[in-house]
Amino acid sequence: MKKIVIDPITRIEGHLRAEVEVDENNIVKEAYVSGSLFRGIEIILKNRDPRDAGLLSGRICGVCTNSHFRGAVSAVEDAYGLALPKNAEIIRDLIAMALFIQDHVVHFYHLHSLDFVDVTSALKADPKLTTKEAHNYSPNPFRNSPSHYETVIKKLQNFVNAGKLGPFSNGYWGHSDYKLTPEQNLIMISHYLEALKFQSNIGKAVAIFGGKTPHPQTIVVGGISSVADMLNPQRLNDYLFTIKEAKDFIDRAYLPDMKLVAAAYREEIKAGVGRANGNFMCAGGYAFEERQRLFCNGIIYNHEFDKIENFDEKKISEEIDRAWYQDNGEAEVPYYTDLNADGSLKTAKNEDKYSWIKAPRYNGQTMETGPLARVLISYKKDNPLIQSFVDEFLEDTNLELMDLSTTIGRNCARAIESSYICEYIFKLVSRLLQNVKYYNTDTWAKYDFETLPKKSKGRVFLEVPRGMLSHFVNIENQKIKNFSVIAPTTWNASPKNFDGKRGAYEEALIGLKIEDTSKPLEVIKVLHSFDPCLACAVHMIDTKGKELSSYKIKSL
Ligand code: NI
Repeated sequence: MKKIVIDPITRIEGHLRAEVEVDENNIVKEAYVSGSLFRGIEIILKNRDPRDAGLLSGRICGVCTNSHFRGAVSAVEDAYGLALPKNAEIIRDLIAMALFIQDHVVHFYHLHSLDFVDVTSALKADPKLTTKEAHNYSPNPFRNSPSHYETVIKKLQNFVNAGKLGPFSNGYWGHSDYKLTPEQNLIMISHYLEALKFQSNIGKAVAIFGGKTPHPQTIVVGGISSVADMLNPQRLNDYLFTIKEAKDFIDRAYLPDMKLVAAAYREEIKAGVGRANGNFMCAGGYAFEERQRLFCNGIIYNHEFDKIENFDEKKISEEIDRAWYQDNGEAEVPYYTDLNADGSLKTAKNEDKYSWIKAPRYNGQTMETGPLARVLISYKKDNPLIQSFVDEFLEDTNLELMDLSTTIGRNCARAIESSYICEYIFKLVSRLLQNVKYYNTDTWAKYDFETLPKKSKGRVFLEVPRGMLSHFVNIENQKIKNFSVIAPTTWNASPKNFDGKRGAYEEALIGLKIEDTSKPLEVIKVLHSFDPCLACAVHMIDTKGKELSSYKIKSL
């Protein structure tokens, strides 16, 4: 057995370390994935006014700011039993949905695509052939002219002539795992650069209703504060225009690029590379008609797509056997064990603690959460908004649903989701217009803070770009007594627990063949496909009693 340690994994948010053990054929037999930076933001929330929980917990992460902002406010609203006016919910959804598509596009192009795209190969591309190649994946490809591609090559050549590749300097260029032709690489690099503009534009859309990004500020307990923006047709129009532009990029660049990658990496997909254990979880949510939800809730075990159970929050628990915490009788406190006597770092061993991430479990099982789980569950539950998007993608790529449970498939699910989210946004905006037209302009659940319960508990389960997020709050004397978070990456990057069950990241690495152990591109690619956010994943304060449903949080 040989051990490969990758620390840190780059092109992610936060600090992630991976150790894999490979046999003589370089096949991964065991994996240890660690969150290597302690956080502890929940401590800051203690003894604060519950109305400040949103703004404070938004600082958990520099990427998922709005997810935590909204999550914390919603948990406080749950504790107080406040019902949100419809318009406030729509405005919150408009902010969230813009962030979903921004997150997915930025993740694929800027954090992940260089695991598929060999930048140096793009320099050899023929611009005319590139325009033809793009037509294989879209009837109307994005910015598809020879002169545009020539400009992209020139930009790349300038980097090389300057003796460095700038943002592209850190790659395993020439690795045998890169499968795209020079022309395909050039298409992807062109879209990589265009996606930088996309990122900036979506920031403007978020700012219309959310205020300054990356830390939106317009969600308040009981409603929203961007009332003037909601009532201003010009602001609504600006938002819609940006989303229409975004949809154009998603449909003419992002989705076709995933079809291109799916074709080039077909063998890898069919071999099931990057598949975890087939347990998927989605809390559902985002209403669009009386009974319809953008995402259906559900649980799938072991890829049994036809046996979907309903999500039940009472089945969630959290373990710390293999995480750097210990129970001091009152609470779970940090307990770091990974330093040798000389101060050097230990490598993870069979029974040791090895991560700052705790191990959440559903019904005792490790689960995968995220766009893939949402797409699979919503599709199999006949969600009418999603059906055609999934069917069309599978038909165009000649893939089956099972093929999506792979490294490449996770990315395909993200692109499919981005496309149907745009449709959902248009539905939301027309609902908002209907409300305003009929003088339904409520944006706040009127309440008198002094009369709200002095002691209460609340929680929320919210689907956010990377998967299911839950926030728990315990209020006493109108102050936060305890606050707890389980983020999507906490689920996916979970360490093992007492029974040795691997988290989704670890499970997805087992069986992986690594061509060159000095350049473990394959490992990085699998991990990137989950869109890791480690700042979000590491949380200290927890529910000593393991049961996390709202009424059984013992230590909160
Ligand atoms: Ni995050």
